[in-house]
Amino acid sequence: MSAMSIKVNPNFRNIAPNYLFSDVAARVAAYTEAHPEARILRLGVGDVTLPLTGRVIAAMAGAVAEMADGATFRGYAPESGYDFLREAVARHYERFGVALAAREVFISDGAKNDCGNLTELFGDNPVFIPDPVYPVYLDSNLMAGRKVTFLPATRENDFLPTPEGLGAEAAIIYICSPNNPTGAVYDRERLGAWVEHALRTGSLIIYDAAYEAFIEGDVPHSIFEIEGARACAIEVASLSKTAGFTGTRCSWTVIPEELLAEGFSLRDMWERRQATKFNGVPYVVQRGAEAALSPEGYAECLELVGYYRENAELIASALRDRDVFFTGGASSPYLWMRCPRGMGSWEFFDWLLATAQVVGTPGAGFGAEGEGYFRLTSFGSRESTAEAVERLRACL
Ligand code: MLT
Repeated sequence: MSAMSIKVNPNFRNIAPNYLFSDVAARVAAYTEAHPEARILRLGVGDVTLPLTGRVIAAMAGAVAEMADGATFRGYAPESGYDFLREAVARHYERFGVALAAREVFISDGAKNDCGNLTELFGDNPVFIPDPVYPVYLDSNLMAGRKVTFLPATRENDFLPTPEGLGAEAAIIYICSPNNPTGAVYDRERLGAWVEHALRTGSLIIYDAAYEAFIEGDVPHSIFEIEGARACAIEVASLSKTAGFTGTRCSWTVIPEELLAEGFSLRDMWERRQATKFNGVPYVVQRGAEAALSPEGYAECLELVGYYRENAELIASALRDRDVFFTGGASSPYLWMRCPRGMGSWEFFDWLLATAQVVGTPGAGFGAEGEGYFRLTSFGSRESTAEAVERLRACL
């Protein structure tokens, strides 16, 4: 087979050969092949296990019935989302005291996609990304050829980088709160410092609120709770973790009308981008999402969140008992633990798989500052979480 003569995107030379969770899956598959008898417990990728709630299922079943009838059948969905769901999302933000216009809400099939695709709106700006953090921000900026500067999130700064010392240049700044993987959450004051910095420097914050439903206590669920954020922030959020939609796919991105750069409205640019490259989320899914955000539907979602919280507490109690340093677990489905006995992240991954047949995610996969840390998820079933906890107690 001879190689083609086309040129490829040279930026792919700058990214790791595999996506983090693909790497984890490959190592687990190799272990399973060598040890077919092993009963592996998975606390790795943050994928939910509880089924969709009753109201979501009923709404989706009703929508399927509509699709089965010529009088109510629907074809292409509007690429930015049906008005009924854009309005439901806007009403959802009233829970946090945030007023949005429905036209500022763009429905999508995943926060991951939107985080990646948003890079298309921007020219060659400096990009600031926390380290450690969800790998999509880094990879998608590297694929686009952007130069990335890391904001270390360490034990010393409570895993919450601040804008201190950043200088006055305009930049694209990523913030994920509650943070994946550390579980650290910005309070009003610390998030306010970022908004103030962005307004002063003409920067844009891309705020990932995918885990807001897990927040406990009086901290912001949305960056738009902070005064001035409408003039400097885009927010991405999702029903994946809130309503168990990891396989169902529905999310949204909020782009306020006020966001203007070089004479362009970012809202209008995103609408234009989506109209060209996206054909909308299926009607059946959008009806399910609408139900999840209704008062009764949201109460059911919070029951799912409560179940995962109890799992997190089970894992946390084992780590406390074994004197292992960790963060997260509260306000987050993730626990971010220090690897014992000075082990590196991947070293501990292999050791834990071999010793206890428990899978987690190596902290180093989320950035250099994650080396020596390890992430456990509370999204498992109660049975497998309880068993994993017993195994952790026995080996840590
Ligand atoms: C994770 O494990 O970090 C998440 O499941 C990844 C994602 O939401 O795409």
